[in-house]
Amino acid sequence: MKQILNYIDKSFNVPPRDLKMIIREFHSQMHKGLSGKTSSLKMLPAYVDRPSGREKGRFIALDLGGTNLRVLELELKGKGQIRLIAERKFVLQKTHISTNAESLFDFIAGSVKNFIRAQKIGDDKKIALGFTFSFPMKQTGVASGKLIHWTKGFSAKGVVGKDIVKLLKYSLLKKGLVNIRVAALTNDTVGTLVARAYKDQACDIGVILGTGTNACYRERVAQIRKFKDKRAHATHMLVNIEWGGFNKLERLPYDLELDALSTNPGEQVLEKMVSGMYLGEIARIILKDLIKRKILFAAGGCFSFNAKDNFKTEYMSEIEGDRSKGLRGVARALKRLGVSRATLEDKILVRKICKVVSMRAARVSAGSLAAVVTKMDPHLLRKHTVAIDGTVYEKYPGFARNIRVALRELFGRKNSRIRITLTKDGSGRGAAIIAAVATK
Ligand code: GLC
Repeated sequence: MKQILNYIDKSFNVPPRDLKMIIREFHSQMHKGLSGKTSSLKMLPAYVDRPSGREKGRFIALDLGGTNLRVLELELKGKGQIRLIAERKFVLQKTHISTNAESLFDFIAGSVKNFIRAQKIGDDKKIALGFTFSFPMKQTGVASGKLIHWTKGFSAKGVVGKDIVKLLKYSLLKKGLVNIRVAALTNDTVGTLVARAYKDQACDIGVILGTGTNACYRERVAQIRKFKDKRAHATHMLVNIEWGGFNKLERLPYDLELDALSTNPGEQVLEKMVSGMYLGEIARIILKDLIKRKILFAAGGCFSFNAKDNFKTEYMSEIEGDRSKGLRGVARALKRLGVSRATLEDKILVRKICKVVSMRAARVSAGSLAAVVTKMDPHLLRKHTVAIDGTVYEKYPGFARNIRVALRELFGRKNSRIRITLTKDGSGRGAAIIAAVATK
């Protein structure tokens, strides 16, 4: 028993020397990606730079990338101010995300139609739309881009390799929505950075730590060697790193088991160690193993740990957030899985497993973030605002603090030059701002 627990402890630990290794490998993969060489970091030009903060007008934003589809109407007032006029969520069904392009994009267009009707926006009124599509895309302009591959469990056929804006336009036309102009296509990390930069010019990194994980940053166009678009005369451009694909991390047997059961084996190595879609699953696989070895719940086994995705990341949050003496919150979470007779030792052990899994995730995120900052500014001579969004960062107990601890280990007092700001709903607001930049 001691042996296996020691192994888990040790193998999930990310000491400072591993953080430094992550930084080195990240830099090398970033360089390769920017030069168009094979790399686990795609480094995708976003065809947009930071906004000025003076953009104005009314826009529709569409946000697809996790569990819901959202449609919003927003008014940009200039001077960094934005007013949310209306917002609606539409729940994505399994069929939408896993059948085909038509089923997915008709659903999106249908939702836009419902929204527009409810908002009483007439057919005669032209309106620009910004689309946040949070998957890896090879963009060819601010309003065009092809899906490279799906992530986060999406698998609709006939979308990979296709221009997302064309697919959307086609479905919008089918629904008779001729007055909508799709003016911008963007990733959620870019949206988040742009939303924060609208009122804070020090913002140069956008991060998502939610269902999936990823980051973008501001790069000099001259450094993006593979970018040959001569029309662009801007000096800087945002680059979507797609850091979820980073694969220079040591994977444990638990990671390999998770990977084999996923919709995209071999891909998104970092994402599968860090993001909300997977943390619960890693913990489930470890716990299942401990149950099998009779180290956990020895008084009576429990089969609900055998089924994929049964242990949710939310349960981990609840378990780690439990400060009660008898660990009543842990007991509550376990009850949902049919365990009603856990001993105090069982509960302590379950919490410990959640802790090692979430700690590794926070430290790997911190190492990645540190790599992006030092790519722009190797000696941390300037201040950087990181705009961050996502349930894992926002809601997981201790996650934000653990990132900060790791940054302090890496940079000492200079860590305070990295300001991390929770930027809620950047993917909605950012899409509207980019649409404004594009229609100017
Ligand atoms: C996945 C997607 C990426 C997105 C991230 C966060 O990693 O591939 O594009 O930014 O999830 O939603």
